[in-house]
Amino acid sequence: MKERIEVLIPAEKIAERLREIAAEVDRVFGGEKIELVCVLKGGVVTLVDLAKYIQSPVTMSFMDVSSYGNETKSSGCIKILRDLDEDIADKNVLLVEDIIDSGRTLSHLRKLLLDRKPKMLKICTLLDKPECRVAEVPVDFSGFTIPDAFVVGYGLDYAQKYRNLPYVGILHFEED
Ligand code: IMP
Ligand code: MG
Repeated sequence: MKERIEVLIPAEKIAERLREIAAEVDRVFGGEKIELVCVLKGGVVTLVDLAKYIQSPVTMSFMDVSSYGNETKSSGCIKILRDLDEDIADKNVLLVEDIIDSGRTLSHLRKLLLDRKPKMLKICTLLDKPECRVAEVPVDFSGFTIPDAFVVGYGLDYAQKYRNLPYVGILHFEED
């Protein structure tokens, strides 16, 4: 099978949207310091690009969670592979994800982080696939709503490939 990628969201559109989200983030947190929490690995490109447009002071920390193997369907099981090394109690936290699909990953993470009593916890995702939702999650900042397709690029992978694409594209499998 050959893999072909069809551009869904070009790089310029992503940059424009992240600028708008950054302005909203600054407003919502009132210019206070924000701890950006990245969900590795997919969220990393969105987090660093979004961070460049945020005016408020930020710090960054990283968590690694796994919910997918080398498959394109949710396994429904979430493993914390790496936890935060900073305490988030009384901090303003912005959790940054690449995509919300079933919502299982974020609803699980949200509960886990809320237990640590942050001052404020907001959720940001670059992409949202609402058709696939199984677990409800309140999303505070969403870049783009997309149809139920498997997408790659801008941090999102297929079997660890394509994370470096500067755009988001739909992955198609075709006969050789
Ligand atoms: P959820 O728990 O089903 O919401 O899955 C969220 C995670 O699955 C994301 O953080 C991604 O890592 C991965 N994922 C979901 N949909 C896609 C996709 O279309 N392409 C690549 N990864 C995806
Ligand atoms: Mg992810």
